[in-house]
Amino acid sequence: MDTRPLLFLDSGIGGIPYCRDFQLRNPGEPLIYLADRAHFPYGKRRREELARIVPALIEALLEKADPKIAVIACNTATVSVLKIVREKFPRISFVGTVPAVKPAVLDSRSGVVGVLGTGRTIGDPYTGELARKYRRDCRIRGIAAPELVEFIERRYGSAGEDEKREMALTYVNKFRAAGADAIVLGCTHFLFLLDEFRREAAPDIRVYDSLEGISRRIESLLDRDGGRLRSGGLPSGGFSVPERRAAGDFLITGDAEPEAAWGEWAGRLGLRLSLLKRYGAPGLSRTEGGA
Ligand code: DGL
Repeated sequence: MDTRPLLFLDSGIGGIPYCRDFQLRNPGEPLIYLADRAHFPYGKRRREELARIVPALIEALLEKADPKIAVIACNTATVSVLKIVREKFPRISFVGTVPAVKPAVLDSRSGVVGVLGTGRTIGDPYTGELARKYRRDCRIRGIAAPELVEFIERRYGSAGEDEKREMALTYVNKFRAAGADAIVLGCTHFLFLLDEFRREAAPDIRVYDSLEGISRRIESLLDRDGGRLRSGGLPSGGFSVPERRAAGDFLITGDAEPEAAWGEWAGRLGLRLSLLKRYGAPGLSRTEGGA
């Protein structure tokens, strides 16, 4: 049995729905959630910056923990640097999250598929190329929604139901006007509004996400070779406070004291909050290319 933890990584809270979905289905697996708040938002950064940031982040984590699987729970980082980190860290099995365009283009009757993501994801040729691989006559209508990323990262916890519904409706209306009958949520942050998107899009538009696909992909890796990678129980302690029994760690980058919301998110996952200090991509300031 392999008691090394599984890592979920995002620029902020976007990976939480993925981490939670996996955790509910696999309660015994030790986890680390890593939020790179020091470099949030990834969606406004260039590929070259992410190619420095994400490997440096994994490198810093490796000084403390030895993950068996790393889930890049961020579409932006996945389309930008998954190949790079796979090559750089061959000991880790990586699982990437990419917009779920395959089922959307195959199901679509209008042939117009909406993809909602960050500027970096929408600007990358990846999504269009993936769509054309499955259907040549399909039209992808990509919309970048950096303000929705900000809303979810900063205000989701305190926003009212009407505001959340309005946010979803704004984008659904844009896709509806473009003739789309499918919307792909191509940013992990947007999963927080999955119900709102589904409600506003029904009955003429279907909403696609990659949540279940990712959990299944991780499970298939854990079950490889007769379940050798499964830990089969809670870990005896995390790496930062070994004497305490916990389901794992919730790490955030940056030296500043964590805002209260981080403690709440960590608590919801049953993880222990701490700072990943002394982390920085070489030659990159906190704000370079950022918001
Ligand atoms: N959650 C990330 C994604 O899936 C992006 C958020 C950001 O811009 O940092 O693309």
